Amino acid sequence: MDISGGFMSSQSTHPQTMDGRDPSHLRGDAITGDRYYSKEFAEKEWEHLWTRIWHIAGRLADIPEPGDYVVHNFLKESVIAVRQDDGSVRAFYNSCRHRGMRLVHDDSSTEEFVCPYHGWRYAKDGLLVHAQDSDVDFPQGDPCGKLRLNELRCDTWGGFVWYTMDDNAPTLADYLDPMPEVAKNYPMDTAVRVAWYRVKINANWKFVTDNFSESYHTRTAHPQVPPWIDQDVDSARHEMWPKGHGRTVQPMHPSISDRPADGRNVMFEAVLRQWDIDPDSYDSYEEFAFQGWKDLKAAKQKLWREKGYVHYEHMNDEEITDSPHTVIFPNVTISFLPDNLVFFRSEPCPDDPEKCYFDLWCMAFPVEGQTEVESIMAGPKPLEEVAVCEHRDFDGGQGIPELAGQIVYQDMSLAEAMQAGMHSKGYTDAVLSGQETRVRFFHEVLNDYLEGRR
Ligand code: FES
Repeated sequence: MDISGGFMSSQSTHPQTMDGRDPSHLRGDAITGDRYYSKEFAEKEWEHLWTRIWHIAGRLADIPEPGDYVVHNFLKESVIAVRQDDGSVRAFYNSCRHRGMRLVHDDSSTEEFVCPYHGWRYAKDGLLVHAQDSDVDFPQGDPCGKLRLNELRCDTWGGFVWYTMDDNAPTLADYLDPMPEVAKNYPMDTAVRVAWYRVKINANWKFVTDNFSESYHTRTAHPQVPPWIDQDVDSARHEMWPKGHGRTVQPMHPSISDRPADGRNVMFEAVLRQWDIDPDSYDSYEEFAFQGWKDLKAAKQKLWREKGYVHYEHMNDEEITDSPHTVIFPNVTISFLPDNLVFFRSEPCPDDPEKCYFDLWCMAFPVEGQTEVESIMAGPKPLEEVAVCEHRDFDGGQGIPELAGQIVYQDMSLAEAMQAGMHSKGYTDAVLSGQETRVRFFHEVLNDYLEGRR
């Protein structure tokens, strides 16, 4: 908020922004089917992408105390991120320096990492502090106090712990640029994770990034969305940035093209009432959608503190009513909404490029007095941290019956048939609309990595 007490005007476009609807920014690389199923392609991704980018190990909120750690298994690699005595976080390969044994398997807390094979013990900072017969039976010298777990570069942003396997990678700030600036008004660190899933699906990991790089599919796949978030083609702002990140900013008011047959929109009516606006005061559906949305902005600007929406304090007048759906290259999506933050991630399965893990973390910005929140992707949830991740197999939807009808369930339901289509001789490249420009952009940035141009 500015010092005059009024909200900052809508977020200005970042200087690096390219129009995400303009295909003249593209080379025109084909999005061929083999990149979704070829083992050779997946190996190239390991060699030139996954070992070079920054990964998220977990949330800072999950490791508040010294010794708390998270384990991030990625393909055949495993990394431990552990909170240090000084509050910092360090990341280590989850591999004993003695003979390579994996030290830990699940998130937990410890004073020392003890190897289950021969009992070597490592301090939180990775230093070997005990080894059996260390002083009498190591011809090369006692390794205790000298040897350390191999360490990775580690940093934090957005309430997440990030690491990279590449000693020569750019800094995290450089890698994410300009996302920290673009998303700076959201109190990401204080969001409460109210739903936490990892779902195995029968599709390549890139299906998820493709899917979140466009909203052209929404009207068909998610018919419940247009009455809530405007899906009309010219309503959204499509942005992409040189490092491969991008977002679609959509106003959260009804699409005019999807007017309900009876002229009533119960969902938006409820939102207006929540902010003391009478939805029956408008003369037409257009006025209800557009003027109602403007009135909503004004009401939120006036009443946010009184109603306990303290997370609006630094948000601008676009952020308090709209939805920047944001993809961080290559596999993380954060959907920012006024009162929620939804984290999505896809990671390849180690045994098959035609399978991936789909992570869903529904997070809410807490509002004073609220005990339950609408988690957007998983339905109503108590406003409290969930302690354990639900590991499920999608299994045609049977693995997550409680999410049936939700947006993510609809997306996952499409994934398997998309994967099957990639094997067809009838598919050679995508024929994209302008608003899907970011889909090809994603593949072109990926190609830049695979071919050593980045
Ligand atoms: Fe860890 Fe031997 S492999 S102590």
